[in-house]
Amino acid sequence: MKRKGFIFDLDGVIVDTAKYHFLAWKNLAHSLGFDFTEAQNEQLKGVSRVDSLNKILAWGNTRVSEDKFQALMTLKNDEYLGYIDKMDDSEILIDVPKVLDFLKANNQGVSLGSASKNARKILDKVHLLAKFDAIVDGNDVSKAKPDPEVFLNAASAIKIKPENCIVFEDSVAGVQAANIANMISIGIGSKDVLHEADYIFNDFSEISEDFIKELINK
Ligand code: BG6
Ligand code: MG
Repeated sequence: MKRKGFIFDLDGVIVDTAKYHFLAWKNLAHSLGFDFTEAQNEQLKGVSRVDSLNKILAWGNTRVSEDKFQALMTLKNDEYLGYIDKMDDSEILIDVPKVLDFLKANNQGVSLGSASKNARKILDKVHLLAKFDAIVDGNDVSKAKPDPEVFLNAASAIKIKPENCIVFEDSVAGVQAANIANMISIGIGSKDVLHEADYIFNDFSEISEDFIKELINK
């Protein structure tokens, strides 16, 4: 069997952390005197922490000093980490471990390609850290998705050429990054949102072992 690289986004693909990002950003917005909606939170999927805060401040028509900006970033992350701290294996999205184990059993490369600077902590909390051959996250990249940097690094970390990699992503920017990187993009989520992906599934329970074998042998 061939050896391909399977690159997983974290937030929204392996675990549903968007609800925790939402709570923390909403409280921050309220502390500044404006609201933050679930629809706005949707637009922050895959967006880095610093870009997220810039967008939220713009939505709230609010400008802050550089010092205040840094303080707000810390405040948000501290609250977010409080939620992360309570996470356990029950928060892993359906059939993710099954797919990870199938890939490992078939000698495939598995790496993480996430915008989050908290990726290792989250994988540790849900006991999935050991399933990855390499982890590339927000601490390792300078350019955010849709720039392909994170996925190109995730591929080179497992020594597999980009054209032999497959990316699982729940964000539009992430699907675009995978496409620009010349990788196969698999959208996890809604067809209406992720239509630029090569394949789209609602979740991993819809992804069969035969389909994964086809990807490997392509
Ligand atoms: C992405 C999330 O994976 O990581 C975004 O979809 C988040 O919502 C970004 O802002 C950065 O995460 P963190 O954990 O570094 O604040
Ligand atoms: Mg995501």
